[in-house]
Amino acid sequence: MKKHIVLLPGDGIGPEIMESAKAVLNTVANEHNHEFIFHEHAIGGDAIDRYNHPLPEETIHACEAADAVLLGAVGGKKWDSNPGHLRPEKGLLGIRKALGLFANLRPIKGFNSLLHASPLKEDIITGSDILIIRELTGGLYFGTPSERRENGNVVVDTLYYERHEIERIIDKAFQSAMQRKKQLTSVDKANVLESSRMWREIVDEKASVYPEVKVEHLLVDAAAMKLITQPNHFDVIVTENLFGDILSDEASVLTGSLGMLPSASVRTDGVGLYEPVHGSAPDIAGKGIANPFGMILSAAMMLRHSFGLEQEAVEIERAVNETLEQGYHTADLQLKDGKLASTKKITDAVIENLTTKSISNSICNTYV
Ligand code: NAD
Ligand code: IPM
Ligand code: MN
Repeated sequence: MKKHIVLLPGDGIGPEIMESAKAVLNTVANEHNHEFIFHEHAIGGDAIDRYNHPLPEETIHACEAADAVLLGAVGGKKWDSNPGHLRPEKGLLGIRKALGLFANLRPIKGFNSLLHASPLKEDIITGSDILIIRELTGGLYFGTPSERRENGNVVVDTLYYERHEIERIIDKAFQSAMQRKKQLTSVDKANVLESSRMWREIVDEKASVYPEVKVEHLLVDAAAMKLITQPNHFDVIVTENLFGDILSDEASVLTGSLGMLPSASVRTDGVGLYEPVHGSAPDIAGKGIANPFGMILSAAMMLRHSFGLEQEAVEIERAVNETLEQGYHTADLQLKDGKLASTKKITDAVIENLTTKSISNSICNTYV
């Protein structure tokens, strides 16, 4: 199989973990006789420095023409006081919007060897397997007006959704639930927000189309609490853009580190963008110690969702599992025993595990 993949390394640890994903994908290509052709483009702070724009036109065109896009992370102190249109984050939001990637799938499934890496009690997190589906191109992130008024003393952001935007994300959530345990939790703030009341109405309408799925509504504050006190309660969670952003970082605690979480940003058909959930981690950038697993697992999601390469995706997920079982971990995973390792060393171990066919078939995280 021949595929064109756009790489957007971005800022901070972005380029470091992108190297890991590239090396892993090259190994998969060799092992399975695929040809992955990488095209690297600028986004975020890197693009501001080079092109004075967080999302150059050329980057958008390249992504539109690609079979899939892999993104590292954007952002950093250097650009934090820039005006809104020259912030790295504008590039990330811009590419999601330009490609129409309205659904962000964030699977949260811990690896057995990391059960004790979480500050949460093992018996609470054991067996948890959650898919957060975050609406990605609407809500407070994109509503207008969003501005300061009256000499900067008044401020407004706008939470705006059109019916069809909610319908398509809710449909996606029901479809995902059908492939999993058929339980859907819709998270909103319907006791306060009109947008949430419309969201709830649409969920209830769609529920009759998917009668096999058990649906519940949960207010976002209660959901935040339940996510870490009773994570086993959840299967698929669907929620609007900002709530999904916050809840997914919180849920990463179940896995031991934010550095473990992959994600897929997709639309109904066509190109998908795959990115870890974490940011550019400026506090550790340049040190070669970033956790590459979230990025590597995002590459696996790309193989599965964009290219239909299920076996190859599973092989990566097994190699990650094997690497963790062998004790390799970065410093963000607070493990007492084990082999504290650099990004490069971990990547080499994953590659070694991918090429020696000794990987056990037993346990594996597949991110559906
Ligand atoms: P962050 O996710 O970058 O970091 C939060 C904490 O987690 C830090 O202590 C960091 O060192 C740690 N961490 C995150 N990923 C890690 C990894 N792979 N390995 C080891 N440790 C890891 O969030 P932040 O510090 O709030 O934001 C930093 C910058 O990143 C900001 O500019 C923000 O806007 C941006 N950001 C970008 C994305 C993205 O590009 N998708 C996502 C979130 C934040
Ligand atoms: C994420 C990030 C982004 C978001 C930021 C960097 C704009 O936090 O992907 O979770 O809020 O969507
Ligand atoms: Mn976030």
